[in-house]
Amino acid sequence: MHGEQGLIRNSKMRQVYKSLSGLYPNYACQQYLDTFYHLEKYCGYTENSIPQLQDVSNFLKERTGFKLRPAAGLLSARDFLACLAYRVFPSTQYLRHPSAVMHSPEPDCCHELLGHIPMLADKEFAQFSQLYWFTVEFGLCKQNGSIKAYGAGLLSSYGELLYALSNKPEIKPFDPEVTAIQPYQDNSFQSVYFVSESFEDSKVKLRQYAMKIKKPFYLRYDPFTCSVEILDSFQKVRTALCQIKDELMSLCSALDTIS
Ligand SMILES: [Fe+2]
Repeated sequence: MHGEQGLIRNSKMRQVYKSLSGLYPNYACQQYLDTFYHLEKYCGYTENSIPQLQDVSNFLKERTGFKLRPAAGLLSARDFLACLAYRVFPSTQYLRHPSAVMHSPEPDCCHELLGHIPMLADKEFAQFSQLYWFTVEFGLCKQNGSIKAYGAGLLSSYGELLYALSNKPEIKPFDPEVTAIQPYQDNSFQSVYFVSESFEDSKVKLRQYAMKIKKPFYLRYDPFTCSVEILDSFQKVRTALCQIKDELMSLCSALDTIS
């Protein structure tokens, strides 16, 4: 980036950061605010610089096990979700065009760093990353009697953040059966948003929904080898259960010690 063009872009990006960080205290959920504070303190989040992805990846790895991997642009849904299964988040590295600072139709650095990373650094949220569009990207949740944003598409677009929390769009309760078949738009604001009672409530609903999907086999993520195993034999299920049993025993001992 050279000369005048680079300066225009820098000042536009500063405008994105300043406008959004001014809106967060009123419009973002508490989990977002908590990690955003840490990102400003430890990861170079300021209006005058663009954080290094490696620093942010190290921060995420420590908090929730997620790692960032550079991506050249939008991935197919299959590739993207396969990355998430391994706790890898593909992250673009370019900046939105200065003529569209309010709302970027494509994911860009602002979207990843301001929209996704703070929520991926929250332990409870990091577990919850399916039914992607209307939750991780455009989700709303109830907190202390008001509605707040947790979706990255909202938290990285000050035009849509204000729109989603105005009385203009339709707001529906989060229900996986309904949310899963809701048509979505990827080139303008959404016409409908879904509100979660809480992350815990949404996680339970999502689990119940997933249980109803008939599968010919069951999988288990092995955190030690970072691989996915097909549970297709008695022995494999037994080994997995033994690992969980060991973990449960040490948690019970910890609880005994505390109490
Ligand atoms: Fe996104």
